[in-house]
Amino acid sequence: RQEGLIIAIDGPAASGKGTLARRLAAHYGLNHFDTGLSYRAVAKALLDTGQPLDDAAAAEEAARALDFRTLDREALSAHSVGEAASSVAVIPGVRRALVEKQRTFAETPPGAVLDGRDIGTVVCPDADLKLYVTAKAEVRAERRWQEIVAAGGKADYATVLADVERRDARDMSRADSPLKPADDAHLLDTSEMDIETAFLAATRLIDEVLAKKKTI
Ligand code: CDP
Ligand code: CDP
Repeated sequence: RQEGLIIAIDGPAASGKGTLARRLAAHYGLNHFDTGLSYRAVAKALLDTGQPLDDAAAAEEAARALDFRTLDREALSAHSVGEAASSVAVIPGVRRALVEKQRTFAETPPGAVLDGRDIGTVVCPDADLKLYVTAKAEVRAERRWQEIVAAGGKADYATVLADVERRDARDMSRADSPLKPADDAHLLDTSEMDIETAFLAATRLIDEVLAKKKTI
């Protein structure tokens, strides 16, 4: 059993899991890793070299070569890279290579908050606390659309909604590590919750876990 605290956060696109994970990590003094960035980096490596996204051998090679310390959130933030990430994420060899590195990260003291799609189910099945963050597709598309516009980009809400729904469907239906709540995950629907309210709800659950850990 690990000594540090591990918090697993999963959920669909733009549910608010990344924002929540970052705040929780800062609050509890834990490391944070947005595992989506690792799938995005593999996709971008293929896009940059013009290799097709279904080239399993090339994708696995990129996953094995990836150094988590050099991931650049800025360079990986494009909506199109998120889409491409969900294509390489169906390749089992890519998942195997990335999951191994993610687990090592999680188990490094003092522990970590990881967010993604399969943290509670596959990467850290023994996490101290698992959250499944979700929100209605319309709300998530609105948030993603706002982000694109705020960054100076152009986007049409209906297209963003269709993209978000297609990506969720792909993530939930793949054979290897589909997106789904772990049996012991706490559900957090942020459709009508702001960031602060979601943060407070999560800290209440984590503080209970910490209080129990102390008495063992
Ligand atoms: O990591 P994930 O894709 O799940 O979502 P995020 O990047 O944390 O959040 C997507 C956007 O929704 C960000 O711009 C957040 O500020 C916003 N958000 C929100 O408006 N209300 C929440 N309760 C959570 C996030
Ligand atoms: O920020 P957003 O929620 O839009 O996406 P992301 O977390 O950056 O993830 C991009 C894609 O990577 C997802 O749509 C998944 O297909 C894949 N992914 C995954 O399969 N497993 C993870 N643990 C994290 C991401």
